[in-house]
Amino acid sequence: MPINLKLLKTSTFRLAAVYLLVFAVSVGAILGYVYWSTVALLEQQTEDTIEAEVQGFAEQYRLRGLNGILDTVRRRSQAEEDSVYLLTNPIGRRLAGNLAGLPAQAVAEAPGWIEFPYEVDGPRGIRQHSAKAFHTVLEGNFRLVVGRDVEERRKFARIIRRTLYWALGLTLVLGVSGGLLMSRNFLNRIEQINAASRVIMAGNFAERMPMAGTEDELDRLSTALNEMLDQIERLMQGMREVSSNVAHDLKTPLTRMRARLEDALRGNDNDHRETLQQTIEEADHLLNTFNALLSIARAEAGQAREGFAEFDICELVRDIVELYEPTIEDADGNLTVKSCASATVLADRQLLAQALTNLLDNAVKYGRNDDNGTLAVAVSVEQKGEEIEIIVADHGTGIAPEDRERVKKRFVRLDESRSEPGSGLGLSLVAGVMTLHNGALELEDNAPGLKARLVLPRHTSVG
Ligand SMILES: Nc1ncnc2c1ncn2[C@@H]1O[C@H](COP(=O)(O)OP(=O)(O)OP(=O)(O)O)[C@@H](O)[C@H]1O
Ligand SMILES: [Mg+2]
Repeated sequence: MPINLKLLKTSTFRLAAVYLLVFAVSVGAILGYVYWSTVALLEQQTEDTIEAEVQGFAEQYRLRGLNGILDTVRRRSQAEEDSVYLLTNPIGRRLAGNLAGLPAQAVAEAPGWIEFPYEVDGPRGIRQHSAKAFHTVLEGNFRLVVGRDVEERRKFARIIRRTLYWALGLTLVLGVSGGLLMSRNFLNRIEQINAASRVIMAGNFAERMPMAGTEDELDRLSTALNEMLDQIERLMQGMREVSSNVAHDLKTPLTRMRARLEDALRGNDNDHRETLQQTIEEADHLLNTFNALLSIARAEAGQAREGFAEFDICELVRDIVELYEPTIEDADGNLTVKSCASATVLADRQLLAQALTNLLDNAVKYGRNDDNGTLAVAVSVEQKGEEIEIIVADHGTGIAPEDRERVKKRFVRLDESRSEPGSGLGLSLVAGVMTLHNGALELEDNAPGLKARLVLPRHTSVG
């Protein structure tokens, strides 16, 4: 498998490498300690037995002199399998024992512990073994060597040492390949996300980030990115709709204006006053539409927050209702404030006033009851927990449930309302203003009629 250099640069691999290092050091330390303590323990045991034996020899020497030692060495050399003994005369010749000759170490070093190789004549021929022994010089330059064969112990230590190396090696190999595998998996998924991003950048906005279905952090990232893409797509869709709607809705009045001016120019009567009057009205209407569009855009972009101030919502509602009363009375209607809970909000006063006016305007236009022809509009301000609700209710035709979201979009007007003047921007502005205030515009059935509810977060002033 050719190792991709990119793999080594992934954060997963680096993390795996750090863990591997820590793990390998721990494994090494534990095994090293086991090795060291086992070897030390075995060494101690050997030394203890040899020491005990030397004590025995010393006892013999004290009681029976050199002969006592000679006898014991002879006896034990035959009986003991793993032991080495040697007693030599002053010129180094063997008197008794199972060693062929005085080991070089015993000659070179002062009395004490020595380790030396020696040959054993076993069933499988002559073999080289190691021995550990205590050597001492007796009176008259006789030398005594008492020891143990430590070949088994050496082998055991070698096995433990080899296990240690293998364990470390295996840890490293498994760790590195595990790290590479994980990084490759990680990198693959990042690559998929990259590929999807490139497809989207190339213009395919319907493409979405891939999901592995594991709900891990990459899936969560993909989910977040996908939600963002959905939102962007919705906004772009909205933009497209708005531009085509703007073009469409402004074309008609402009064409009409142009036709009227042309007519006037061609006409014989020189009284252009009426034409100019109508043209100005039409231009005003266009300007109003533009202003509304700009207000909605500003509110939706959240740019208007600098106009925020604390004020009592009930006061504002009463002001607006008072301003609007004559309009309703002109239409033979009735406007009442049912309840008004005094509460502080942090809001743009002018925009909220505009939103309320738009709702009242709609109530006047569409809120007349079909059966008895009366126009009754009720306004109330209620406090619900941390929220404040401003409700404008009428008894008109209302809006069918399936249209309640649609009418909040720009330029949307329901068919039955075409007889009334308007451009379909009123509710869009209300919705935009509510978004700006972290609130919501909810349209409900007033059985019959429409209940428009403005939900605002309550403001608790600090300090
Ligand atoms: N109180 C209501 N009762 C019944 N239908 C309503 C009510 N308010 C709004 N609507 C419907 O929702 C549509 C959109 O309302 P909106 O206020 O956005 O536009 P408009 O009133 O037609 O025009 P504009 O407000 O820009 O003058 C209206 O055309 C009407 O069909
Ligand atoms: Mg309206």
